[in-house]
Amino acid sequence: MPARPTPDRPGAQEWVPEGADVDALAEAAHGCRGCELWAPATQVVFSSGPDDAGVVLVGEQPGDREDREGEPFVGPAGRVLADALEAAGIDPDRVYVTNAVKHFRFTERGKRRLHKSPDVAHVRACVPWLEAELAAVRPRVVVAMGSTAARAVLGRAVRIGEVRGQVLDPPGDAGAAREAGAVVVTTHPSALLRLRDRSGWDEAFGSLVADLRTAADVAR
Ligand code: URA
Ligand code: SF4
Repeated sequence: MPARPTPDRPGAQEWVPEGADVDALAEAAHGCRGCELWAPATQVVFSSGPDDAGVVLVGEQPGDREDREGEPFVGPAGRVLADALEAAGIDPDRVYVTNAVKHFRFTERGKRRLHKSPDVAHVRACVPWLEAELAAVRPRVVVAMGSTAARAVLGRAVRIGEVRGQVLDPPGDAGAAREAGAVVVTTHPSALLRLRDRSGWDEAFGSLVADLRTAADVAR
């Protein structure tokens, strides 16, 4: 995914230490000024989980809770993800969890901070971090959750409905997952939040669990 830098959005590359392990990357990310999203955010949210994980899960960007706590998937979407991992028989402590974009993008509505999806330009600016993480972790499979993650991981836009649950080959040079063994695309857990206690939940949750199982099977 070629970066299209602008003066206020040079892209993360110059802040990414070469050949670094995950701890060093996470440390360096505090100083990233690769795009403007760092300024209003509380802190960078890097990743969680072991750096030798066979499965890497990639989300979109941190939400309100993640921004405050500095950890990915600790809010409502994280609850859905934890439930889905459990249902898929995956130990949550054995997966590496990260996001395509490392700072929370939001609009303020009174005291509330409302999630705003990152633009493609933010994904482009931030992707050097994900590339470096995947080079350090070298997972057997990368699970892209939602279309923002899929764009970062595969380096192109995909329709989730058309590719979800398939075991895809790693992308060529364009995508962050080029060194991973395989890629599985699935829905974003937050897409399920609005279905809680409604019709459609069982099917949507079941599909997410099935996709996670597919990924776990690849990593075995
Ligand atoms: N949604 C995401 O995509 N990532 C998080 O870390 C939390 C919510
Ligand atoms: Fe850097 Fe990514 Fe944060 Fe932008 S969102 S400042 S590129 S870490």
